[in-house]
Parts: sequence; structure tokens; C-alpha cells
Amino acid sequence: MLHIGQIALEDIARRHGTPVYVYLREAIEQQWKSYDQAFGTRDHLICYAVKANSNLAVLSCLAELGSGFDIVSGGELERVLAAGGDPGKTVFSGVGKSVDEISFALKAGIRCLNCESIPELRRIDAIAGRIGLKAPVSFRINPDVDAETHPYIATGLQNNKFGIAWEDAIDAYKLAITLNNIEIEGIACHIGSQITTLEPYIDALELINSLIPKLAQVGIILKDIDIGGGLGISYRSESPPAPAELSRIVCDKLAERSACIMLEPGRSIVGNAGWLITRVEYLKETRHKNFAVVDAAMNDLLRPSLYSSWHDILPVTQHLNVPELVYDVVGPVCESGDFLGLERKLALRENDLLVVATVGAYGFSMSSNYNSRPRAAEILIDGSQIRLIRKRETLAGLLEGEILTEDRAKLTVQSRSSA
Ligand code: LLP
Repeated sequence: MLHIGQIALEDIARRHGTPVYVYLREAIEQQWKSYDQAFGTRDHLICYAVKANSNLAVLSCLAELGSGFDIVSGGELERVLAAGGDPGKTVFSGVGKSVDEISFALKAGIRCLNCESIPELRRIDAIAGRIGLKAPVSFRINPDVDAETHPYIATGLQNNKFGIAWEDAIDAYKLAITLNNIEIEGIACHIGSQITTLEPYIDALELINSLIPKLAQVGIILKDIDIGGGLGISYRSESPPAPAELSRIVCDKLAERSACIMLEPGRSIVGNAGWLITRVEYLKETRHKNFAVVDAAMNDLLRPSLYSSWHDILPVTQHLNVPELVYDVVGPVCESGDFLGLERKLALRENDLLVVATVGAYGFSMSSNYNSRPRAAEILIDGSQIRLIRKRETLAGLLEGEILTEDRAKLTVQSRSSA
């Protein structure tokens, strides 16, 4: 029977139902520490990318370790603050920051806004002027580097919407010095996600290195160099570099720079620390294919449908006398693209529990209510404790916030009270 830490998965399913996400605190902390320790005494800040997994309990574990945060919305900032995160260690990335988000971030005392365009720079300057403070700004540079990853998660190519083209970087800094309400902090660069070799980082670091003397010539000394996130994890047979290997090349390339080195890892901190437990509803054997229809779907875990990504799927209990068959493991959502895994060899009975691995990053955080399905519960295993860190959504909760016409509302109340 499968366990995570000291806890049997069957126990979690019995107590909290399925589908349910399960995270292991110890593993999250270990990964964060492996980044932090890899930089040793070199001035650095690890800013966990909240988008990978934004549960408050996860954020608060990291805040307790002293982590910084990388956010991309006012909602993520609200979460960081609620979890006890330090806004002074939080950086705000993203191409479309709204007026409200920029003022919220500035008033909260954010470490820096990673600015991605000239119109955004002008907007930040105007808002900071209205509030009466200087806005700390780094420019996110697009280095035109191929991260050799899935095209949807490459961000550092010239045809991606992200960052300021490296050829235009110096002009952007020159403009920033002329603006009254901007304080230049540093340079940032995030080239993609699920990167499995160091070469793209080396290319990006070399580009940053080539810009620094040119900035110095116009009197700009960078306080922060943020090289983004993106380090991959092993879903199947990938063997990505460890944080220590990344830190070695970063420290080596930036040996002559006194700036604080910042990183924004998400996936590599939480990805391997999360599992999704699901129950087999039906085994549907057809003339052409066998389907294991489970109670988790693309609304719970979108990655296989969106990126054709692989996640291991394992039975929670092994059967000795059930023959293995090849199944497509599919959910109840009305889309043929709704699957968690295709052509998996499994020995299954109806009502069995399965566990989908490596879903701690971009699992729950990308989930939705599609097909009006309540979102799953989330559990944190903390030593010997099973902590519920997000309640399963309810059917009543699904309708909250929606507004019926007045007549229909009256009829609904009448028919419910007479029922
Ligand atoms: N910093 C910025 C500015 C980012 O855009 C991202 C991710 C990160 C940091 C964190 O990257 P990581 O260390 O997690 O690779 N939903 C996709 C991944 C999208 C990543 C978007 N940006 C997936 O499930 O693969």
C-alpha cells in the first residue's frame, strides 16, 4: 500500500474523499533549502514563484524559512501577505499589471516591480507620483534565448510577449533615470519553465553580463540580478540539473558582480512534493480501447490535456490476481482531451484508488470549475499529521456570487421551501 511520508494514502482518501491533492511539507522545505544553501554566503534571495502552488499553508511554510516570493497578480500579493510573507522580499513580474495592482504593490512596500514594457514604466512612474513615493523597478529583459521547452512555457524568445527586447534595454534604463518617481533596482530575466539543461541559463547570464558595463557607463549600478525560475524536474525520464549545479554556473558567471542574486523557482520547489489521489469510478472496456474513468479530471489537473505532459499514475493498492490491461485514464469532463494519462498498464478494479505523481506545481493552481465541478480538497502532510489546508468546494459554494433575475430567485426560494 502506498505511503507518503508516514501516511497511508488510503487513510487520506477515507478521511477527506477524492479527488484530493496531497503535499509533503518536508519535501517542499528540503527543496527550498537546497537552493538557499547552494548560494552559501553569496548575497542572494530565493523568491518562490507563487503561481506554481499558491495554497496559504504552502506559502506560510516557505515564509517561515525566510523565502522571498515572485508574484504575478494582486491576488498573489494578497496571499503572500496573508501567509506572513515579507513584501520587502517580494518581486512582481507580469506583462499586464493593472493600476490597482501597481498601487497595491507599492503601498505594501514591495521589493521591486519587474517592469516589462515602456508603457508599464510610465504607468508605474505616474502611480508612484500620485502616492508620493519612489517605485523600485527592475527591467525584465527578453534575451531571445531558446529554453528548449514546450512552446507554451518558453518565455525568453523574441516572439514571446514577455520582457523588454535586450536590444532596447539600455534605452529603457536611460528613460527610467529621467523619470522622477522611479528607483532603478536591477535587472531580471526569466526564460521559460521545465528547463532541463544549463545552456539557456548560460546564454542569458552572458547577455546580462554584456549589458552591465554599458549600464555602468550611463551611471546605473544594479543592486539586484534576478535570473528567474525555470529549472525542470523529472516527470518521466528527464534528468535536469540540481539547484547546486545552477548556482555554480550563476555564481561563476556573476563572480565579479556585487549585486544580490535572485531566483524565482516554482516547479522545482513544489513539483515533486505533490500527489493527486483519485478513485476509479468505472472500468469501461470497449472493442477498441479500455478506459479507467476516474473522479479527477482536466479541471483538477490540466497539464496532460494542455501540454500533453506525462505524470506517473500508480495504484494505491496492488492486486495479485487481477490481470494488467492497457487503459486510458480519463476524467468525467465532456471533452475527448480530458485525460490524466494515456495507454497506462494497470491492474485495476472499480473503486480502486490511483495516485497521480509530480503534481505539486501547476496542479491545483491551474484547476477550475469547468463542467461545474467543485475543486478538490488539499492536504499537507506535516510530520505525522494530516492537515486539511483547503476544504473541498461544495455545490452551494459553486453558485455563490451568481445573480438570478429577481422573479426566478423568488420561484427558486418558494420551490426549495415547499420541497
Ligand atoms: N518567474 C516568472 C516570471 C515566471 O513566469 C515563472 C513561470 C516562474 C518564475 C516560475 O517558473 P518555474 O520555476 O516554475 O519553472 N503552467 C506551466 C508552467 C508555466 C510557467 C509560467 N511561468 C506548466 O504546468 O508546466
